[in-house]
Amino acid sequence: MKRKLVFFSGAGISAESGISTFRDSSGLWEHYNIEDVATPEAWNTNTDLVSDFYNQRRKQVIQSEPNSAHKLIATLENEFYVNVITQNIDDLHERAGSKNVLHLHGNIRLAKSSGPKQEEKFYPIDGWELTVNDKCTEGFRLRPHVVWFGEQVPALNDAAKIIQEADILVVIGTSLQVYPAAGLVHLAPDNCKCYVIDPNVDDFEIPSNFVNIKSKASDGMRELIKRILD
Ligand SMILES: NC(=O)c1ccc[n+]([C@@H]2O[C@H](COP(=O)([O-])OP(=O)(O)OC[C@H]3O[C@@H](n4cnc5c(N)ncnc54)[C@H](O)[C@@H]3O)[C@@H](O)[C@H]2O)c1
Repeated sequence: MKRKLVFFSGAGISAESGISTFRDSSGLWEHYNIEDVATPEAWNTNTDLVSDFYNQRRKQVIQSEPNSAHKLIATLENEFYVNVITQNIDDLHERAGSKNVLHLHGNIRLAKSSGPKQEEKFYPIDGWELTVNDKCTEGFRLRPHVVWFGEQVPALNDAAKIIQEADILVVIGTSLQVYPAAGLVHLAPDNCKCYVIDPNVDDFEIPSNFVNIKSKASDGMRELIKRILD
């Protein structure tokens, strides 16, 4: 039977595809305040600014391509039963060929209703722009399918179950600063082999049971594959 290999990815895995991370010195938060663009309050008070922010992010995602780290993860489906849990709102894992991708913080290629009922109904966005004229079936304006700060993370329980059954857990390209998602990595079972791939993380910053592969995502994936296939 194939072993269960779980990837927990963050913005760093898409950095080599040209998509900015949030917390690096050149990251997005250098140019925007969280409160201005990534909260329900911002949407309610400054809808057009928030909509434009995500339109620009979507345009960048559409123009980007999966890099070798995304692709290597997809190829590992030949050897393992692979689950990807991503904090990213881009769709580069799917476009690289990964079949089991769980988005914790939403998917920027989808929209949902901004109406009072938070139903799990998603509308694919054709192209990069969501406009004031895009409405749900009940007539409310569509908003990006992104989990904003202060909102529930509906996929959290599903993610927890996947990590609790992992044989190998690989945390790749995330600063583990955004909760509750970051807390998930502590749920790996005792016999699970755990790795971190990140060029900027030091040993003292990660739990002692994690192996630190201190590299960019693509180089780190090549190193990981040597270790887990041996
Ligand atoms: N691509 C996206 O969809 C995207 C982009 C930016 C932010 N976000 C959102 O931002 C939130 C922030 O959390 P986060 O931890 O994902 O991002 P983060 O910006 O907080 O952390 C990024 C991490 O990636 C590392 N990193 C930088 N370059 C790397 C590379 N080439 N290879 C591997 N690692 C690299 C950094 O050292 C850092 O630890 C998430 O919820 C996510 O939804 C998503």
